[in-house]
Amino acid sequence: MTDKRREKLLPVARWPTLSEASSARWFQPVKLGPVTAATRTWVPAMVPWRSNEAGECTPEVIAWYQRFARGRPGVLVVEATGIRDVPSGPLLRAGDDRFVEGLSRLVDAVKRASGGETKLFIQLIDFLPIKRRPARNAFISRFLTLTPALRALRPELDDAALRAHLESLDDDVLATLLPARELEALRFGLRERVTDTHLPHIAALPQVLPGLFASAAARCVRAGFDGVELHFAHAYTMASFLSALNTRTDGYGGDRAARARLPLEVFAATRAAVPPGFAVGCRFLADEIIEGGNRPDDAAFFGVEFARAGMDFLSLSRGGKFEDAKQPKVGASAYPYTGPSGHECMPTTKLPTPWGRNVDAVAEVKRAVKAAGLETPVVVCGGIATLDQAEAVLARGDADVVASARQSLADPDWLLKLRLGRGEEIRRCLFTNYCEGLDQSHQVVTCHLWDRLKGLPDDETAPRTADRRRLLAPEWSAEMTRAAPSK
Ligand SMILES: Cc1cc2nc3c(=O)[nH]c(=O)nc-3n(C[C@H](O)[C@H](O)[C@H](O)COP(=O)(O)O)c2cc1C
Ligand code: SF4
Repeated sequence: MTDKRREKLLPVARWPTLSEASSARWFQPVKLGPVTAATRTWVPAMVPWRSNEAGECTPEVIAWYQRFARGRPGVLVVEATGIRDVPSGPLLRAGDDRFVEGLSRLVDAVKRASGGETKLFIQLIDFLPIKRRPARNAFISRFLTLTPALRALRPELDDAALRAHLESLDDDVLATLLPARELEALRFGLRERVTDTHLPHIAALPQVLPGLFASAAARCVRAGFDGVELHFAHAYTMASFLSALNTRTDGYGGDRAARARLPLEVFAATRAAVPPGFAVGCRFLADEIIEGGNRPDDAAFFGVEFARAGMDFLSLSRGGKFEDAKQPKVGASAYPYTGPSGHECMPTTKLPTPWGRNVDAVAEVKRAVKAAGLETPVVVCGGIATLDQAEAVLARGDADVVASARQSLADPDWLLKLRLGRGEEIRRCLFTNYCEGLDQSHQVVTCHLWDRLKGLPDDETAPRTADRRRLLAPEWSAEMTRAAPSK
């Protein structure tokens, strides 16, 4: 599909005048516990793959957030950042004191670039090991556990001969013989789950995680952040504790209250480790989308529990799970945004209506929190890219804050353009998920629209990726220079 056709699919935008913008609900302040954001706009966490193997806050990471800060969102959330000090590829880390210095440079840069207006939160994440999909022969000859049932197939064979025999079988036959987890490991790569309590490090998660999240949050305080967002969403450890698929029998799985126990303990430990002026909230799923997973009524239950415990904000997303992810190629890892739940998480114009798809489920959470007598602000996102969409959400009271990820990526100045009554200058996200495809392969994330603009004054000097993509969105002023009629 051409970009022109994609543009036609976007929600109709009636850009506000300056005075309409100044009275818009979206641009009014909101209290997030001890922190007041100047507007109800929010750029949610997006991993741009600009850190390095050491998990450091590189100059590229800083430049990325500085660029968003110039558009002055009410809140900017730094990407999912690891709470452990373990090699995690180029994922940003907060798992040791040595990361504080780099993170504080990031905070300073954002504060300067937004004139002190944008509140800066950071998303803290834990995740479980996942292996790449193995080659069939390598898996059977080296990794497959020879269970008594497999040995019983050909008791006369020694291990090597049995493995050779299994290798010779058709895929369909092999599939009937392997235990479900072994078959999954063969087809998708081995993925640990919170229910693997036979593994000591998985059994110990409830003892270990509160301290890890709390220490990472304390480092973020020292770095100067305004708050942390505990990542309880998508395919990661804490979301798996909340999931209806969590059947742990140690008091941290089973019914909803038991599934919420560890997230609440993580929150309590984090709260205890930070000063009163620091915001602590979480991101969790309004709907897991997958079979047997949490639905909006589960999310409403969790929302009330989190609000009652004193969280300062509840940011909601939907989907993004491993359970329905596409089978990866041999040598690649499964990616939780490739199946139906992933498509809900980051909807594209391939869906008939990618706009505001999370709103109904999030509104259910908001209503439950309100009915419990709690005012905790609720953040919604997902296919929201015009002022009218955001205003409708806020007017109905479906949420208190409206977040925009990809539209802010396509044009980090767009919120400022809206506020200045210059909406027609917005570079509109086409919801293609080119950026998400880069994220999927852990490549430096950029927007394809940035490279469609030619003849900008910085064409020669703009920082670029090795394959010549712009690393940052073009400057608004540079685009205006280009648009000005030549004499
Ligand atoms: C490149 C990219 C990276 C993302 N990384 C994260 C992340 O680190 N943590 C997170 O909670 N969501 C992440 N998301 C999801 C977004 O925060 C957001 O929920 C999603 O894009 C839907 O919102 P939108 O329609 O406004 O883009 C990412 C999205 C994109 C496009
Ligand atoms: S690359 Fe991402 S941000 Fe850019 S237009 Fe496509 S979906 Fe939007």
